[in-house]
Amino acid sequence: MTQNLLALNWKMNKTPAEARAWAEELREKLTANDTELAVMAPAVALASLAAHLPPGVALGAQDVSAHESGAYTGETSAAMLVDVGAKYAVVGHSERREYHHETDADVAAKAKQAQANGLIPIVCVGEGLNVREQGEQVAYTLGQLEGSLVGVGPEVVIAYEPVWAIGTGKTATADDAEELAAAIRDALIERYGSDADGIRILYGGSVKPDNIATLCAKPNVNGALVGGASLKVPDVIGMNDAL
Ligand code: G3P
Repeated sequence: MTQNLLALNWKMNKTPAEARAWAEELREKLTANDTELAVMAPAVALASLAAHLPPGVALGAQDVSAHESGAYTGETSAAMLVDVGAKYAVVGHSERREYHHETDADVAAKAKQAQANGLIPIVCVGEGLNVREQGEQVAYTLGQLEGSLVGVGPEVVIAYEPVWAIGTGKTATADDAEELAAAIRDALIERYGSDADGIRILYGGSVKPDNIATLCAKPNVNGALVGGASLKVPDVIGMNDAL
């Protein structure tokens, strides 16, 4: 049985001091269960979180450089993230694909660099509204997946995040999520064989305490990647308790 992963993506929110306060509140209120909880914070807040998170809550980054080290101003290397205690690194989030023009090849390079340093990449894929309206979501998303996994091993998490559901309050239905998760699962089995069995497929896009259980009850949905509802501890507790 694959352990569910509740991954929290703060995006560009919380100072290190606010991150510490969030971690201390979580420490007071969290009732651990068999769901793995991970928080992806801005790089400047990772050390603060690492020092104050409750035991068992994993740390992650929202991006990682495709390079080992060197003249890459503003980037953060996988080795730096491991040193601060990170276990995961989100790569290819739709906001980075859009605002930073990251290609599938860029995402694959980042994922490979993460794995080379012992980080688990959370590879994000998902279609825009125009693609969904044309009924091409499966072909489009699998195309992104294929390009983003070139040279990437099975120590990976996949996050299906339909762009039209991110930050909009328009959550995909559980059937929508399962349609893509099942297609992604088949593609992973074709690529990795039995090694695909342990790969978790997350859904992301307007996940809240009142919809996470229905979404994650689907056979191929193994957790969620949550943005807005990750910022307040009571919402995190609600989602964690619902899984
Ligand atoms: O990475 C998760 C994020 O894209 C989802 O955002 O606010 O719709 O939960 P939100």
